[in-house]
Amino acid sequence: MRRVARPPARILITGASGAIGAALAQAYAAKGVHLVLHGRRFEALEALAEACRTHGATVELSSIELTDDEALHAWLDDLTLPDLVIANAGQNHHAAQGELMEEWDATQRLLAINLHVPMAMAQRLAPRMAARGHGQLVFVSSLAAWHGLPLTPSYSASKAGIKAYAEALRGRLAPQGVGVSVVMPGYVSSPMCTAMPGPKPWELSPELAARRIVRGIARNRARISFPFPLNVGCWWLAVLPAGVSQRLLAWMGYGGES
Ligand SMILES: NC(=O)c1ccc[n+]([C@@H]2O[C@H](COP(=O)([O-])OP(=O)(O)OC[C@H]3O[C@@H](n4cnc5c(N)ncnc54)[C@H](OP(=O)(O)O)[C@@H]3O)[C@@H](O)[C@H]2O)c1
Repeated sequence: MRRVARPPARILITGASGAIGAALAQAYAAKGVHLVLHGRRFEALEALAEACRTHGATVELSSIELTDDEALHAWLDDLTLPDLVIANAGQNHHAAQGELMEEWDATQRLLAINLHVPMAMAQRLAPRMAARGHGQLVFVSSLAAWHGLPLTPSYSASKAGIKAYAEALRGRLAPQGVGVSVVMPGYVSSPMCTAMPGPKPWELSPELAARRIVRGIARNRARISFPFPLNVGCWWLAVLPAGVSQRLLAWMGYGGES
């Protein structure tokens, strides 16, 4: 994978034990870079740390419970303030076969990690970054944020929520020297992607997705959305009359049947 020319010195990535997070960690791994990697599967994190160290990065690992505000805030307060924070950990789920609605406990867990945790991270980190006068917060959303998918309502809601939050925060933090970007990937090969129902056009490898994300972050892009054809298609769903979008989604295989 292509390395970043001048990467930020301290980078925190959540969901580093997953496909996109691990590819991002490897893309940033270089001499002079310190990576703080979070994931629940510690063995996967340790293997990733070894790979990153071979590229010259220093690495620290964490598996604290992100959805516990107290544990999250204590962890963030103890860290040397990162230059770049990528809130990437996330989940997807959908209604079981034959069920109309998604399982509620699973929906609450999804909202906690996809929406509550990234906002709680920003709540704690943004004031310190603003006081220092620089930093960058990156939130991983999805193209599903443009228009909700009937197959995955809770996921779509969480990703639309974090997109709106990131866009709003960008305007609020820019005068303080803090950058904010929202990442909106299409389909990226991962266990999560495999488990998702529906067609998966233009599926990308995690490495290619990481390259797009790293490039967008380096330019402090407001939105890092890809691949281009799917991004345009999903954007149209948001601007077309709602009835047309719903018919298009059903016709393309993203209707209510899981
Ligand atoms: N893959 C796609 O097609 C796609 C498309 C659009 C957006 N995204 C977004 O990209 C991000 C990364 O997804 P991915 O494709 O790399 O999926 P993945 O391989 O399944 O990785 C998900 C990561 O999130 C972590 N995670 C999930 N729930 C967590 C929790 N409650 N607490 C802490 N960590 C948790 C997982 O930790 P463990 O491995 O330790 O469980 C893992 O590191 C997600 O936000 C996802 O919504 C993915």
